[in-house]
Amino acid sequence: MDFLPVFMNVRSQPCLVVGAGEIASRKIQMLLNAEASIEVVAPKACAAVEAMIAEGKISWTKRNFEDADIQHKRLVISATNRAEVNEHVSALANQYNLPVNVVDAPNLCSFIVPSIIDRSPIVVAVSSGGSSPVLARLLRARLETMIPATYGRLAQLVDGFRSRVKEKFSSTLERRRFWEIILQGPVAELMFAGQEKQAKSYLEKAVSEGEALIEGQGEVYLVGAGPGDPDLLTFRALRLLQQADVVVYDRLVSPPILEMARKDADRIYVGKKKSDHTVPQDGINEILVKLAKEGKRVLRLKGGDPFIFGRGGEEIERLMEEGISFQVVPGITAAAGCASYSGIPLTHRDYAQSVVFATGHLKDNTINLNWPALARSNQTIVFYMGLSGLKIICEKLVSHGLDKNTAVALIEKGTTVDQKVHVGTLESLPNEIDSLSVKPPTLIIVGNVVKLHEKLAWFTPQLQA
Ligand SMILES: C[S@@+](CC[C@H](N)C(=O)[O-])C[C@H]1O[C@@H](n2cnc3c(N)ncnc32)[C@H](O)[C@@H]1O
Repeated sequence: MDFLPVFMNVRSQPCLVVGAGEIASRKIQMLLNAEASIEVVAPKACAAVEAMIAEGKISWTKRNFEDADIQHKRLVISATNRAEVNEHVSALANQYNLPVNVVDAPNLCSFIVPSIIDRSPIVVAVSSGGSSPVLARLLRARLETMIPATYGRLAQLVDGFRSRVKEKFSSTLERRRFWEIILQGPVAELMFAGQEKQAKSYLEKAVSEGEALIEGQGEVYLVGAGPGDPDLLTFRALRLLQQADVVVYDRLVSPPILEMARKDADRIYVGKKKSDHTVPQDGINEILVKLAKEGKRVLRLKGGDPFIFGRGGEEIERLMEEGISFQVVPGITAAAGCASYSGIPLTHRDYAQSVVFATGHLKDNTINLNWPALARSNQTIVFYMGLSGLKIICEKLVSHGLDKNTAVALIEKGTTVDQKVHVGTLESLPNEIDSLSVKPPTLIIVGNVVKLHEKLAWFTPQLQA
């Protein structure tokens, strides 16, 4: 190693920053995060540093650097745009045996500042030893996505229980095992899902009753997979996919998303087609309960968002009845995904002041909806599951007062490389639909916002293929 990684306590310690430009401001902010006492020496300051001065967070000596500035300091950072000043500050700091960092000049540094992932009290530092700060930053960005934002709070929770766990388990091995189970199981997940109270009471119980309790418990993650493009998964969905023991998935979940699950995880298909219910809803609910009771971490993966035409509510109701721990991870619903990927802003202010999501599912050859409420100008309506009911939908909207020239888009396999967008009007699209050989899943958007598609369409996978 060219540098020894250490974490230095600078709380209330006098630290000097020479320079007050944009780059200096980032270093100052970092020192502020560590609660250092900061003196800045510079003839002028950028707006960000000026704001910190105005807020009384740092003190400013408004002139060029003088040698005496370095006295009684614990740490020095030089971030001026004048090489000779930076060199001089570095030499002087070395003379006084003070740790010194000169921005973008590794040869003048006795310490370098890493890229930081701050989940205090957990802090991860990444450094390339000054050889490629950009590479270190890119790596940091990848780690950011993998480490939940609430990691720090989990560390605080653990801290509060350490002495009790020490009393309960006398050997280091037992304690380590206990914490490994806790930190990879429901307590950690409850914290990440913002269920701090439940996490604490779970941990209380686990400490007093011992680890048998923990080992017997499974949990369910109800996760929205988004409309198709795997890049639209949330960070949390990805993390849970990579830790679940079993994935229970629907027809609408795209294969690349399923591939992101842990390689050795079991996969159970419960997909539904319109008239061919592979596993009825009650059956799915019972599968989830059974697997969780076997102690498994079960990920229920659903297309789009679990709570938008996804029957997620019924699944968690059943889990609640059984006292099984669960969390719900929202996904990008088809309306949002398809609209974005086809350049149709659902509430563009020139055309629509509201948007309604409705089901176009046909039952006994009819669709039971509040048509007068739907058939309003200045409103966008998004129909899920509406392909076979398209003719009825258009007819009903016109007969309840919408102009027959209102624009309609039918989006096929939205957000995927097979996306197609068919545009027409309430009058024309029903006549054209049979000749279009449309493939599900499809979404219907009705309203004059659809007119913007021609101008704003940006995602054209067929052209790129
Ligand atoms: C049972 S609903 C599930 C909706 C899902 N929970 C959501 O939030 O998007 C299924 C309907 O969603 C719509 N859908 C889902 N993914 C789609 C996609 N990639 N392109 C077009 N429509 C989609 C279709 O209307 C399909 O019939």
